Amino acid sequence: MERVLSMFERADPFSTWWPTIAALLVGLVITVRTIMSGQRCPNDNQIKEQIVVVTGGNSGMGFEIAKALAARGGRIILACRNLTAGERAAAIIKRELGCRTPLDPNDSSSANPAERYFVEVRQLDLCSLSSVQQFAAQLMSEFERIDVLVNNAGMVFGNTQVPTGDGFEQHLQVNYLAPLLLTQLLLPHLERSEQGRIIFTSAHAHQAAKMDFDDPLNVGSWAVKFHARDAFAHSKLALVLATRWLAKELTGTTVTVNCCTPGLVRGTRHLRHSPLMSAFCVKVITYPWMWLFMKNAYEGAQTAIRLATDPQLKQVSGEYFNRQGGVHNGQDTATATATAAAARKLIYVPHAQSPGWGSLTGDLGSNVYLHLV
Ligand SMILES: *[C@@H]1O[C@H](CO)[C@@H](O)[C@H](O)[C@H]1NC(C)=O
Ligand SMILES: *[C@@H]1O[C@H](CO)[C@@H](O)[C@H](O)[C@H]1NC(C)=O
Repeated sequence: MERVLSMFERADPFSTWWPTIAALLVGLVITVRTIMSGQRCPNDNQIKEQIVVVTGGNSGMGFEIAKALAARGGRIILACRNLTAGERAAAIIKRELGCRTPLDPNDSSSANPAERYFVEVRQLDLCSLSSVQQFAAQLMSEFERIDVLVNNAGMVFGNTQVPTGDGFEQHLQVNYLAPLLLTQLLLPHLERSEQGRIIFTSAHAHQAAKMDFDDPLNVGSWAVKFHARDAFAHSKLALVLATRWLAKELTGTTVTVNCCTPGLVRGTRHLRHSPLMSAFCVKVITYPWMWLFMKNAYEGAQTAIRLATDPQLKQVSGEYFNRQGGVHNGQDTATATATAAAARKLIYVPHAQSPGWGSLTGDLGSNVYLHLV
């Protein structure tokens, strides 16, 4: 024992710089990680019995959003392309929340706390506009209203050469046209809510968007015009602009619409098409950096969770949210405005008066309205 003690006394941590350097490095890594992870949703508001639709809710951020909102009392409908994966996600959410819920001896209705949570799955494939119509029709016949619509599902690094069955570029349809159509179809139900909220998920990348003013909806020969990255940025800028347009259209109603960027998020299926993620050795090299500089799905979900639950945002519409915790960020609004200005303040919105957009076959032609944002 004495020997050990004297060893400690003799050990001089300052005889070498390595412990100091190591400590500084660890401190730096923790600091960067903390900053990059962003803030948590600052409130714990309950949304008892509110009906919430989350697209792409079976994995990644959609899953985290659905879980958080279910925990706050919402009735969640997961809109998933893959029903099997969706059912599995719903079961996981219910089980996890059930485990956290203490047994209520007075509640004789169900012995299993997991059954107190309402998480259901419906089929929705954004690659198909008719699937969007079916989904919306089914939802509207099943539920009397919808309180929150989270348009979370999206695509990045798709193949720009291959159009969807409806004849559109994939990013444009999955990230923009289909969510916008879904929103328009569900509007009557959102208006029946005491306070309907529509949330779009955009991305920082919208700032890099290139718009072709002769073809703002990118329905021309996109494969030649755009790399997948540009097509993605384009669809996300279209979302920011559509948010502003829709907010104007909805003035005087109880429905608000906002969009947010989750920041850089790793560990979602979002990047599954990325060329970076296909090679093993590249993965080994990039994962530590992704861990350090990117948010995980839970952290990325916080902005949308706040938009769905914060009573302070009741009157806020048409805004672009960046950092989740803070009040909406004037600078980001300015960015979005500047971007909108760059697009000459124009946005083409598919014919609002023909819900279903029946005649769309890749050529929007006269079915397109021109709107000032
Ligand atoms: C759907 O999800 C299940 C479970 O995750 C998976 O096994 C199956 O391959 C998926 N189907 C399609 C068509 O992706
Ligand atoms: C159960 O009911 C009794 C009597 O109605 C009440 O005193 C008690 O607080 C209740 N317990 C819980 C956990 O709600």
